[in-house]
Amino acid sequence: MRLTEWTMEEQEQLIHFMTTNNWPFHGNSNPAREIIEKTIEEGGYESDEVKTFWVENEDQVKVGIVKVFDLQDEIPVFDLRIAESHRGHGYGPAALRKVAEYVFSLPEEKIRVEGHTRQDNFAMRKTFERVGFVKEGHLRKAWFSPKEKSYYDAITYGMTREDYLQGTTTPVHWDDSQAAVETDTQVHPAMRNFPDAFESERLLIRAPRLEDAEHILESIKMSHKALKAWMPWAQKIQTLDETTENVRLAMADFITRKDLRLHLFLKETGEFIGCSGYHRINWQIPKVEIGYWLDSRFEGKGYMTEAAERLTEFAFEDLGARRVEIRCDTDNVRSRAVAERLKFPLEGILIKEGLSADGKLVRDTCVYAKTK
Ligand SMILES: CC(C)(COP(=O)(O)OP(=O)(O)OC[C@H]1O[C@@H](n2cnc3c(N)ncnc32)[C@H](O)[C@@H]1OP(=O)(O)O)[C@@H](O)C(=O)NCCC(=O)NCCS
Repeated sequence: MRLTEWTMEEQEQLIHFMTTNNWPFHGNSNPAREIIEKTIEEGGYESDEVKTFWVENEDQVKVGIVKVFDLQDEIPVFDLRIAESHRGHGYGPAALRKVAEYVFSLPEEKIRVEGHTRQDNFAMRKTFERVGFVKEGHLRKAWFSPKEKSYYDAITYGMTREDYLQGTTTPVHWDDSQAAVETDTQVHPAMRNFPDAFESERLLIRAPRLEDAEHILESIKMSHKALKAWMPWAQKIQTLDETTENVRLAMADFITRKDLRLHLFLKETGEFIGCSGYHRINWQIPKVEIGYWLDSRFEGKGYMTEAAERLTEFAFEDLGARRVEIRCDTDNVRSRAVAERLKFPLEGILIKEGLSADGKLVRDTCVYAKTK
């Protein structure tokens, strides 16, 4: 498929094309010869402003025509017509791709190309979408049909130069209310970009990966007694499918910055030793809560204190945190010891704030926090 430039010598061919096809979605669905002649005469098909191209298929058959106008403007517009007998064979999208190619290779470096169609012209709307044009406007009752003497909605599509060059389709950000814009700009830049792995002296601390699931399950099994006392999710042993699903969700949350779980590995052996991470994140402040659990086989070596210290440092330096919390049950002596060894001030004890891991008792919660 290619576009070949229409020339004045092909006047008869153009008139024939325009008058022997029906154009149900155009203002004039059956234009008369005289109108086409007049338009040609007035430069409506060829001028500084307008270029017309045949849409030719592989057999050099002229299956359609496309007019690109407003060429002196930064934003050209087009009108694409495929002959009735050739509609429904994909020529529309192929021709529109060539139109974008033509417009964006002009030396003036056009900033966008746009097109308008009637709301019920679904073939044209699909054509726009196939080529990566974005729906940018829905104008109610903006398209008059003289034949029916009634108004239709008009739809505007556009493609930007950036999208064309990068092969992307950037949707319009419709929620541009003041509230939405303010929320968006308040988000801390760290939310968008930080490493997904870092190290402490003995540990590799990194974002979850699916391949971790088996090791996590093994650790949970080996540490079941200790975990069951403090972790609601450890009340029963999970299946590998459940652990895998859980890791998958953690990966998704990590990518969307909703919750940042981190897996801990010994640098020396590569063994998985436990889990930590940042939870209950509020990016507006930003503040995070550090959580953790350790495989019982690795207890007593200060690994969790080392991990929590590094996580605290990373939170302040890389996430831009203003507040890092550690919360735990008042009876969870080992967890409290981590916070206290790292000199997290105990800000308070919230009475009857939580439930025991088995959900049976109402419990008190210690809140430790460092701030910056
Ligand atoms: C609009 C037009 C350019 C599309 O070109 P085409 O070669 O017929 O397009 P295709 O056959 O490749 O169809 C494009 C898509 O629209 C879909 N489509 C076609 N007719 C449709 C209809 N009546 N309802 C819903 N979808 C339709 C096709 O299934 C295809 O979708 P897909 O990519 O999901 O398969 C052509 O039909 C035409 O010239 N129509 C008359 C002139 C016109 O209306 N021009 C636009 C003026 S703004």
